Amino acid sequence: MTSAAHLSRFDLTGRVALVTGAGRGLGFEIARALAEAGAHVWLNGRHAELLDKRAANLKAEGLSADPAPFDVTNHETAAEWFASAKRAPDILVNNATLRDRRPTSELAPEDVDRLVAVNATAAYALTRLAIPGMKRAGGGSVVNVTSIAGPLAGGGDPGYTLAKGALAALTRSHAVEFAPHGIRVNAIAPGFFATEANEAWVDDRAVGDYLAMRSPMRRWGRPAEIGAAAVFLCAPGASYVTGHVLTVDGGMSVKM
Ligand SMILES: NC(=O)c1ccc[n+]([C@@H]2O[C@H](COP(=O)([O-])OP(=O)(O)OC[C@H]3O[C@@H](n4cnc5c(N)ncnc54)[C@H](OP(=O)(O)O)[C@@H]3O)[C@@H](O)[C@H]2O)c1
Repeated sequence: MTSAAHLSRFDLTGRVALVTGAGRGLGFEIARALAEAGAHVWLNGRHAELLDKRAANLKAEGLSADPAPFDVTNHETAAEWFASAKRAPDILVNNATLRDRRPTSELAPEDVDRLVAVNATAAYALTRLAIPGMKRAGGGSVVNVTSIAGPLAGGGDPGYTLAKGALAALTRSHAVEFAPHGIRVNAIAPGFFATEANEAWVDDRAVGDYLAMRSPMRRWGRPAEIGAAAVFLCAPGASYVTGHVLTVDGGMSVKM
């Protein structure tokens, strides 16, 4: 096999991706990787100016990107975006997140509802909006960004664990429902990544010591290390992969 034929398994030329929460962190890195593989990427988030800048950054690198500012929990504006999008996505990455690390005694049921709305219900709603376009395109790919804090519980972080567990369950359900339409639904479960959201932790020596003890690779994940996992799950090379949660955590979740 030639190297070009080999690379075609990871080629996303002609594909259109919507990545939620793509203004920073892992969402931006996933968007960049999908664009580098040839896709046009829509960068979603709630801050239009930031998304304009991020899209301009990618365009300056010769990549194809546009901003898609809307709140993923506002089902009306999300539906309007899908109805008006010049290029309908056949790749959807549900990456936007809300985190609230309070324990059960301090976390009201309404707070849990908010966590579920961003981390799980929005993924359900956006997938529902994306499916008709994917069917018209003859297939598509959904990637839900879950977390190792779904199957694994740290204790004292119940709302996020509940929401990410729900997103993993949704991944399985949608994988089965949409497989007959050529639409694959998978998830990526990151471990500890050094994103802006974790800035204070990255600088915290105690967390560094914990990772050195708990993680086989003994370090934080670098945000750029997430992108290739998303490219694989969306690419022709993963044509028989659906309902899978791809863990990217430096081996943390398999260590006793
Ligand atoms: N970093 C880690 O160590 C880690 C570990 C496990 C799992 N994860 C998962 O990986 C994903 C990315 O993590 P990250 O660290 O890059 O997160 P992050 O820096 O907190 O980014 C979250 C993104 O979501 C967007 N967002 C939040 N609410 C939104 C809403 N209602 N509508 C649209 N966009 C919204 C934010 O943009 P705006 O505020 O501009 O809207 C932001 O860009 C998340 O799903 C997270 O749960 C991360």
